[in-house]
Amino acid sequence: MTSHILAIDQGTTSSRAIIFDDNFHIVSVAQQELTQFFPKSGWVEHDGEEILRSTLATCHKALDQSGLQGSDIDAIGITNQRETTIVWDKQTGKPIHRAIVWQDRRTSAFCASLDSWGYGPMITNKTGLLPDSYFSATKIKWLLDNVGDARKKADRGQLLFGTVDTFLLWHLTGKKIHATDATNASRTMLYNIHENCWDHELLEILDIPRAMLPEVQDSSADFGTTTPELFGAPIRIGGVAGDQQAALVGQACFAPGMVKSTYGTGCFIVLNTGEQPVTSDNRLLTTIGYRLRGKTTYALEGSIFVAGSAVQWMRDAMGLIESAEQTGELAGQADPDQDVYLVPAFTGLGAPHWDGNARGAIFGITRATGPAELSRAALESVCYQTRDLLDAMQKDWGKMGDTVLRVDGGMVASNYTMQFLADILNAPVDRPVILETTALGAAYLAGLHIGMVPSLEKISASWQLNRQFRPSLDDAVRLRKYNGWKEAVRRTLSTG
Ligand code: G3P
Repeated sequence: MTSHILAIDQGTTSSRAIIFDDNFHIVSVAQQELTQFFPKSGWVEHDGEEILRSTLATCHKALDQSGLQGSDIDAIGITNQRETTIVWDKQTGKPIHRAIVWQDRRTSAFCASLDSWGYGPMITNKTGLLPDSYFSATKIKWLLDNVGDARKKADRGQLLFGTVDTFLLWHLTGKKIHATDATNASRTMLYNIHENCWDHELLEILDIPRAMLPEVQDSSADFGTTTPELFGAPIRIGGVAGDQQAALVGQACFAPGMVKSTYGTGCFIVLNTGEQPVTSDNRLLTTIGYRLRGKTTYALEGSIFVAGSAVQWMRDAMGLIESAEQTGELAGQADPDQDVYLVPAFTGLGAPHWDGNARGAIFGITRATGPAELSRAALESVCYQTRDLLDAMQKDWGKMGDTVLRVDGGMVASNYTMQFLADILNAPVDRPVILETTALGAAYLAGLHIGMVPSLEKISASWQLNRQFRPSLDDAVRLRKYNGWKEAVRRTLSTG
């Protein structure tokens, strides 16, 4: 009898459920968009209950479409948008406020204070991160300080904190399991990635009660079982990882020096650095790539806040295109003599700039500039930012050698964009056959736990190339274009 794994991929813009068979072929996919709330400039929120509802709805839909029952599913793997912060009431299960999304910048000023009070180096030493509003810690503090009697309740032990994986896990297991995995914990700015534990000093500085925090497990572990009434039968939950780390697993980047880039709402480049955490001199993040059987594999990460969402902005806010897929085609028709740059700092700039106050800008517009040139600028901005990050990685990790970038996520379907990426990086770009690497990674982690996947070697052996894009751009053109981008960024920075 065939075995199946259900991967839950709760992302920033949608909730997805994907069923894989025992050869890790996709049996069925269901997806539901998630409402985005922008209550103030730089604020981004989600409705926690909608996150739960849409997750359950997509799981049921994926089951219905496949003709499978809950009892046909051997395990669940969960992967999630990271850092997004939910605080909920232990009794009712209801969030005390909307989820504060990773993109939200409301705590930027407080993070700058942390830095000016001299906490920056200590935070980086312990957590591998920088004091930035991107991470969960200051979002939790904001909720405790700003929502009704939240602080009092938290002190009395009535509230729980979780990233999205934890919130889902708690509800799926009928309020039994309050846990996360090491990759998600490593994005909170409260987790000591060297000692693998919540850090008391940071909790004290931020005034966050330890009792609110989940237990931290390996990424492939026993995360409990779903309550039988949800899917008609209890299902084991065997894998949890933040989406970028799940993609690292799905892309089989298990050897130090292997690097992947995922193009979703944002873009996240993660480089496996092996058993040793590498400290960045170039404002990249040191993070946990995965933790298996108690052994931590570290990674360097560069995070770009806006990738696919630049295309979404062109479609939804500007009305320049009708569908995201149109962008590549339009970009191909752009006037090659126009150097138009879009710096999509809609919610500030992430690595390596970390400028929460920067806002988006367009440079080089002439009377002849139209939707084609803007489409090209949007797609190119993603490639330029990838280059910024890979350059920084190369400086931090001398052993990188010749980079081959494994790519995944929605945008990599565009041949135009992938060719430009290879051109601007001056390095090959490998696109795998399965682009659902995030969900695949979560499925592998669950599969490892139940013994359906024997080893990481087996995962590496099943990775398959769809197409390699090789650089073909003239060096002088590459240099001119990239220098133009650097100048555009310089003019966009709030300090510039
Ligand atoms: O760190 C944020 C990241 O995990 C979000 O990923 O795919 O939802 O944009 P995505």
